[in-house]
Amino acid sequence: MVSFLIAYASWSGNTEEVAEMVRDELNRTGIETTMYRIGFGSVPDPGQYDAMLLGSFTWDKGATPEEVKDFVAAIGYKPEPVYVFGTGDTQFGGDDLFCHAAVKLTRFYASGCPPLKIEQSPRGIQEMKVIEWTKGVYQHWLHLHELKC
Ligand SMILES: Cc1cc2nc3c(=O)[nH]c(=O)nc-3n(C[C@H](O)[C@H](O)[C@H](O)COP(=O)(O)O)c2cc1C
Repeated sequence: MVSFLIAYASWSGNTEEVAEMVRDELNRTGIETTMYRIGFGSVPDPGQYDAMLLGSFTWDKGATPEEVKDFVAAIGYKPEPVYVFGTGDTQFGGDDLFCHAAVKLTRFYASGCPPLKIEQSPRGIQEMKVIEWTKGVYQHWLHLHELKC
């Protein structure tokens, strides 16, 4: 069975909500998921999974949270493929810094999909955005998988 790791950091719950919506959508597609809240418990090895989805909020002027940096360092290598989602708030520095941590992580992992950027909570009108992004990730993964076979 195909199995994805969903690792996410969340301070006030928004990124966790996105992670849960992504998980539910993947599960509907028949993909098994393991959730890992960054900073809580031992760091999983993404190599044990078919893909890693990484979620992060953005901190102080576009910064990546320290716990996310620690997680990336603890993994110690760049697994493939990695797909990144994030939450942020456009009030903190406008478009340039909006979800900047997710943008930087996408670049760092050379992800094949653009980052999902959600303004605060994904509930309501942004829900479709989460679902569409998750479908896109699955399609991208399927394509990679076909190339390998
Ligand atoms: C002190 C502080 C600084 C922030 N800086 C940014 C920022 O530079 N860019 C951004 O997009 N969001 C910024 N945010 C907004 C958070 O990323 C946003 O509220 C996010 O949804 C929190 O995620 P969480 O609920 O999963 O912890 C900031 C929030 C706080 C409290």
